Amino acid sequence: MQIGGQGIFLANMKGGVGKSTLTAFLTDYFKSNHADTKVCLLDADPQGSAVELLGSSTSVDLVRHIPIGDRYDGVNAVTLDGVYRRLISDDNTLTMVDTAGGALGNIWQLVMLSKCVLVPTSLSWADLRPTIDFVTELNERKEANNVATPHVIVVPNRISPQQRNLSVLSEAIGDMNIVLAPPVSDLSIVRSQAVDFTGMKGVEGTRFHDELSRLGDFIVNYVLSGKLDEYYS
Ligand SMILES: Nc1ncnc2c1ncn2[C@@H]1O[C@H](COP(=O)(O)OP(=O)(O)O)[C@@H](O)[C@H]1O
Ligand SMILES: [Mg+2]
Repeated sequence: MQIGGQGIFLANMKGGVGKSTLTAFLTDYFKSNHADTKVCLLDADPQGSAVELLGSSTSVDLVRHIPIGDRYDGVNAVTLDGVYRRLISDDNTLTMVDTAGGALGNIWQLVMLSKCVLVPTSLSWADLRPTIDFVTELNERKEANNVATPHVIVVPNRISPQQRNLSVLSEAIGDMNIVLAPPVSDLSIVRSQAVDFTGMKGVEGTRFHDELSRLGDFIVNYVLSGKLDEYYS
């Protein structure tokens, strides 16, 4: 399946929800399953967590840190804009972009060029409240522009392994135009990988590997494949 020529943003104004963690694992997952596609990671977070995680261990084709902070980062914003547009115009390249928490500021237009925005959140209200505000803003921008993409995909993350009831989340997002992705549990192996990241290989045989693969397959089969586009057209 053709997964290139598209871009995926990970974003949420709330920090600490797993954006960088999921970016690093998903980037590695896409590359290991689509060796023919160039898979690139652009890290726009000044903290550079995703780049640090993927580090040198990576089979990913291009990893670049282009920090965009809350302060005025005009030069980097222009660089990111140019690099991102060039990468997503290549049919054989899939591009992931990790972002900092807080307002998206001058990279909103790049979000709007993307196939989807993955928005991780836990089920705690401290995460859910800002997440709802964030996805509401995304949907308002889509409506204002009368566009079907980026698809807004909420990814339940750091869910207690015993808790399989996501009704808090589905009730909170109500009838908003949002897709719920398969959940990822709160697992200690993820924290150990924060110290010594070895990608999907390093978590083989674990529950996290299964859940991350299910999330990756979901993104490939429903989003990158164009199925969701058909649904909304
Ligand atoms: N599914 C998970 N299970 C356990 N810990 C997680 C999980 N996802 C993220 N974390 C941990 O939560 C913290 C914040 O994650 P991070 O990816 O840095 O969030 P963000 O990029 O949104 O700020 C990190 O310490 C990370 O290891
Ligand atoms: Mg981060």
